[in-house]
Amino acid sequence: MPKLYIKTYGCQMNERDSEQVARMFVQKGYTMTDREDEADVILFNSCSIREQAEQKALGKMGLLAKQQRHRPHVVYGMMGCMAQSKKEELFKELPRLDLVVGTQKYHRVFEHVDGILRARQERRMDELQTAFSGTHVCDVAEEADSQNRIRDHLNPGARSTAYVSIMQGCEMKCAYCIVPYTRGAERSRPIRDVVDEVKMLADSGVKEVTLLGQIVNRYGRQMETADGKGGFVQLLEAVHEVEGIRRIRFVSPHPIGFRQDLVQAFTYLPKLCSHIHFPMQSGSDRILKEMNRHYTVQQYLELIDYARKTVPGITFSSDIIVGFPGETEEDFVKTLELVRKVGYMQLFTFIYSKRTGTKAAELPDPTPRKEKTDRMTRLLKVQDEIAMALVKAQVGQTVKVLVEGFGRNEGTLSGRLDNNLTVEFTADASLMGSYANVHLTGARATVLLGELA
Ligand code: 5AD
Ligand code: SF4
Repeated sequence: MPKLYIKTYGCQMNERDSEQVARMFVQKGYTMTDREDEADVILFNSCSIREQAEQKALGKMGLLAKQQRHRPHVVYGMMGCMAQSKKEELFKELPRLDLVVGTQKYHRVFEHVDGILRARQERRMDELQTAFSGTHVCDVAEEADSQNRIRDHLNPGARSTAYVSIMQGCEMKCAYCIVPYTRGAERSRPIRDVVDEVKMLADSGVKEVTLLGQIVNRYGRQMETADGKGGFVQLLEAVHEVEGIRRIRFVSPHPIGFRQDLVQAFTYLPKLCSHIHFPMQSGSDRILKEMNRHYTVQQYLELIDYARKTVPGITFSSDIIVGFPGETEEDFVKTLELVRKVGYMQLFTFIYSKRTGTKAAELPDPTPRKEKTDRMTRLLKVQDEIAMALVKAQVGQTVKVLVEGFGRNEGTLSGRLDNNLTVEFTADASLMGSYANVHLTGARATVLLGELA
């Protein structure tokens, strides 16, 4: 049986897309491997969000091709965001590469690999060659309904949680962001299709679904009802109906368009986890404007306030960019202030990375790298203190945990609370995939520790 190795960079959307590609190969008789040196097909699902992500994928694939010179039959493919943005240029950077597949063509990867293998075989017959190169296939064209093609899951029964892609693309054009250029126009799947997929997952034993979209609260914008209920809320209500599903999460919303109907949904949809990943990016109004984010710090804080009043105990996490072009010490201090004010459970922090083709790439960026990394260190320190205090404040409670895996210490299991915190506790592996009542007894950094209640 031929073997497939897939390495995935970037976001959950990419993980989901990789899963769908893997499923296609498995259906056709491939087995998955996590060893590059025994794979017949090596696929990378790439990310372009920061330069470092691109460099990592390029470096790793270059190295692999070199290490595996003695295995000329291996097919190498690059999929995803970097494939979409660099296109044929990738063949120059990676001479062993056979296949480039863009973000709207994941469903055609198997077909292309198969085509390459056939072409090689024919050539082998003709020319009695043993080593082949130069079977270049590049498929990066747009496909109007590609959002409707992401539906297959690999062994859905093997896990209690699953991702469900509800839409593709982004049109927000934040000044720093490459995504609108790599993922194309915003397109939503029909509610009925998403619900069918969630039903299938529930039937296989999945208990928690995370709905994925570049900006989920823009899902189905054309579908607003007469009483002002947005498409995303309608989708949440429909998914909530699916029997067997006990928890629903979503990533990521945009503060713009995060309306009261969505906050209210948390009050009457008990399966909706009371945690919102709510990307802020900066605590300075001046920088937010330059970033093209369309909201002010005040508006953002008002939303948080409204959510906290409406949904007691709700927690937040966020993305922050440090060192956006022109960010001064004063701007940065405002970010620190905001982070303190909100008290995020988790923070995903990034040093600004210039992306060619975006608006921010044209802005002067005089701040030295060293200053940016210092700011990052300061931010992380503030966040660490906040997170540890928030985690400690949970100790003493008895909570419901969905058991998702093994803990770090032998004999322990690990799972998440409704508010997205992780807890480890001693228990028998037979609890895997089910709910446990856990009494929280302490913490190791930001991981809670507990015992079965
Ligand atoms: N540089 C650094 N971080 C970025 N992000 C998006 N584009 C860039 C960039 N050019 C961050 C944002 C976004 C997260 C997914 O990645 O914070 O929310
Ligand atoms: Fe990376 Fe963004 Fe593409 Fe996800 S959508 S892989 S984060 S560039």
